[in-house]
Amino acid sequence: MAKTSTTFFCKSCGASSAKWVGKCPACGEWNTYVEEVIHKDKPDYKSTWKSEKVKRSLQPLLLNEIEKGNEERFPIDDTELSRVLGGGLVPGSVILVGGEPGIGKSTLMLQLALRFKGRKVLYISGEESERQIKMRAERIAFQNEDCYLFTETSTQKIGKALQQLEPDLVIIDSIQTLQSDLIDSTPGSISQVKETAGDLIRYAKESGTPVFLIGHITKDGTLAGPKLLEHMVDTVLQFEGDRHHVYRILRSTKNRFGSTNEIGIYEMQAGGLREVSNPSEVLISQRDEALSGISISASLEGMRPLLIETQALVSQAVYGTPQRNSNGYDSKRLNMLLAVLEKKCGLRMGMQDVFVNIAGGLRVEDPGIDLGIIASIVSSYESMPVDNEICFVGELGLSGEIRAVTRIEQRISEAEKLGFKTIYLSKFNKLPQTSSGINIVQISKIEELLNLLFG
Ligand code: TYD
Ligand code: MG
Repeated sequence: MAKTSTTFFCKSCGASSAKWVGKCPACGEWNTYVEEVIHKDKPDYKSTWKSEKVKRSLQPLLLNEIEKGNEERFPIDDTELSRVLGGGLVPGSVILVGGEPGIGKSTLMLQLALRFKGRKVLYISGEESERQIKMRAERIAFQNEDCYLFTETSTQKIGKALQQLEPDLVIIDSIQTLQSDLIDSTPGSISQVKETAGDLIRYAKESGTPVFLIGHITKDGTLAGPKLLEHMVDTVLQFEGDRHHVYRILRSTKNRFGSTNEIGIYEMQAGGLREVSNPSEVLISQRDEALSGISISASLEGMRPLLIETQALVSQAVYGTPQRNSNGYDSKRLNMLLAVLEKKCGLRMGMQDVFVNIAGGLRVEDPGIDLGIIASIVSSYESMPVDNEICFVGELGLSGEIRAVTRIEQRISEAEKLGFKTIYLSKFNKLPQTSSGINIVQISKIEELLNLLFG
């Protein structure tokens, strides 16, 4: 019988301590220590995870002498996922996919498994039975003859299966259900997550097999388990969206092999997730007449131009403190826009409730959307619609100046492609040489915008 003991772990950074402490000495967070039972004597089990494929040097190598050839990425069919990952799967990479329950993580991963044609995929689930997964696979239109399923939670057993099968891709649904037989604490606890993820990461690095880990998220939207998990993996993807809407957004918050500002957009349909390759068309609502409080911005997500509808509602505040509410747009930035409108244009925003919403459940960080937000706010304030053939792009500065934005050519051509007649942008943006069919209005100050739009 192995000797057991308990250890305290920090929920935030995963640091351990023999006794409880109020403030974590490692990360400085308060009240994050929890007690977990662990086995004290660990047999040397790591050898079971060793793969035959390993060819690792035991000596330091010259960077120039290292061969690059086998680091080519595996292409993946799913263009959205491929873009978010930075163009395909890097061998031996470990990717953590987080998201709220029911958002479609399992569907996204099963779809990837079924589309990874001609390669062996092992889908390990600790959440659902084989039949449930089979039923889901039947809803999805893709098929892969080499897709294996394993409903198991013990990492020791999973390790054996991996050695036998030698898959080209491994998917774990989810990391919180796995347990190592050598630790007594319950699945999902900090020590289990650390241990099991550590095993899988070691496996990925040694065998060169890419591994996807599905992770739960906590109530406040962060990935459950120690923050350490995010440091351990190569890539962290967030699958987000409103469960009641059909659109889902895949975003990377960390990526060792690519940029983190690309997003992937999907639509949840009866037959699985469909990639939305032309998001501008779906994000702009179809309307016959121009309504007040709505305008279109030529935004940019990563390298992709994206036309987004911004909506605002400004109404007389009934309570003492006016409300400011913003969905998909930074609320501090919204307060700044309102302050500039008050100071520079004399609009009495202090007496008004202001609600701002980005259509489609998107969250936009591109500052180029400022001008569109202002147009929506003033349109609602004045109860005057903005012509729906106009689109906006520009960042607002504190003294009311409209600042230049990046990649203006792409934004202009996207607006033109979608049939907009006029685009408002900063005077300080250099215009592309090629003449375009769209009418370009350049402005330098916020007052000019209001004069042009609302007289
Ligand atoms: P799921 O992948 O189980 O979510 P998660 O693993 O993140 O908890 O997806 C759950 C939802 O997706 C569920 O409400 C049903 C819906 N769904 C579809 O609408 N169409 C489909 O083809 C599939 C497979 C699921
Ligand atoms: Mg699931």
